[in-house]
Amino acid sequence: MTVPPFLTGNQIRHKFLDFYAQRGHEILPSASLVPEDPTVLLTIAGMLQFKPIFLGQRRAEFLRATTAQKCIRTNDIENVGRTARHHTFFEMLGNFSFGDYFKEKAIAYAWELSTQVYGLPPERLVVSVFREDDEAFAIWRDQIGIPAHRIQRMDEADNFWVSGVTGPCGPCSEIYYDFHPELGDAHIDLEDDTRFIEFYNLVFMQYNRDADGHLTPLEKQNIDTGMGLERMAQILQRVPNNYETDLIFPIIAKAADLAHIDYSEASESAKVSLKVIGDHVRSVVQMIADGITAANVGRGYILRRLIRRWYATAGY
Ligand code: GLY
Repeated sequence: MTVPPFLTGNQIRHKFLDFYAQRGHEILPSASLVPEDPTVLLTIAGMLQFKPIFLGQRRAEFLRATTAQKCIRTNDIENVGRTARHHTFFEMLGNFSFGDYFKEKAIAYAWELSTQVYGLPPERLVVSVFREDDEAFAIWRDQIGIPAHRIQRMDEADNFWVSGVTGPCGPCSEIYYDFHPELGDAHIDLEDDTRFIEFYNLVFMQYNRDADGHLTPLEKQNIDTGMGLERMAQILQRVPNNYETDLIFPIIAKAADLAHIDYSEASESAKVSLKVIGDHVRSVVQMIADGITAANVGRGYILRRLIRRWYATAGY
């Protein structure tokens, strides 16, 4: 089995943007963490700045775009530091098609990037498709050549993506990396995050969901994707979790240093605390840089909560 190259977080980000730029995508800057979209308090995904385009409310200046979007999600805040992969702040690498290419090309690009640019061995990759998406299943099997038993059909909760509750949405297809291929193909359980990590989500954005849950086809078929920068860094830097990548570990090392703790010798609970600090420092700094101030309500309250948790964790 080939071994993927070691890449820094910065190299992973650049390789993603360069790959899509070479394929006609305009590299656009990350949007602010303060979204224009009133349905969410913070920018939770790369697609948010393009929502009016997907909904046909704004004309796209480019048919293809690519971004490294700073994101904050706090729905898994209790898992931060406790699992290998949950964060409040993370960067989402995305490629977007506004009525240009659709499933076939999105899947082919994602596969080429994963295997040729990031060098992931194909035999370590497993994919999921929405239960009813026979078309995506067939593309993975017949055009990419993934054995059928390594293409898992998943239900709406996992493989139908919408930004929040209402808005542009569609079935999605995810690519997972297998940390333990020696366990064999007999029992592939993608929920087992000690074995698998989902690193790339391809959303085939083609509906608008209203508050009653009704789906109306969008004017155009679009592509919205998200690759977790920290997750790809965990894979390519061969570390046991996202926190020990070069994207976050320098903050943890500094906090450990200030607390006179040797991270490698630290107890599990001290490591959790240091990881929470590593995560929350990134969120807090990025939120303040985007003009958010601590408050009792709204996004200001999220900032206040993160600062309080970080201080509490640090023992102040
Ligand atoms: N918009 C795709 C994702 O967040 O996974």
